[in-house]
Amino acid sequence: MDRCNRLVDVGRRQFLRGSAFAAATAVALPTMPAKAAPSLALVEYPSNKLANVANLKPNEPFDVTYPDGDAPGVLLKLGTKVEGGAGPDGDIVGFSTICPHKGFPLNFNADDRTLNCPGHYSRFDCEAGGQQIWGQSTANLPQYALRVDDKGDIYAEGLDELLYGRLSNVL
Ligand code: FES
Repeated sequence: MDRCNRLVDVGRRQFLRGSAFAAATAVALPTMPAKAAPSLALVEYPSNKLANVANLKPNEPFDVTYPDGDAPGVLLKLGTKVEGGAGPDGDIVGFSTICPHKGFPLNFNADDRTLNCPGHYSRFDCEAGGQQIWGQSTANLPQYALRVDDKGDIYAEGLDELLYGRLSNVL
């Protein structure tokens, strides 16, 4: 019994020593103010000329890259005015062609104006701002903000979603 009491006493002393150390540490260490992480969503987009209206044929994809050469995309003249469409007829749209799910390259289907993924079969509606309409992706397709000048030159000036695999859209 005496041995048992000694063990309890040793345990109590070690506990008190630990508590004293913790209290001393709490007093000695200054509290560091939390640093706000920089926002990765705030990026500057280049204004890149991608094509001229004369280069586009109705319902045929025109391959481009934006915002840099490692980001494949496509311009489409859909033939009917759509939300977010640019140009004199409001029917020109542009999208990244990298699937937001796992980065497979997308193919355009002219019959229903969708971009389709061969990886896990996600489908994106080009007439509805790249909205995902089927498949594994949990994000919509990044769409270009387009501007068409008086000469018909088409400029991309931004993206509405994060490109697959990037921390920000401009490297
Ligand atoms: Fe496109 Fe998975 S990579 S659906």
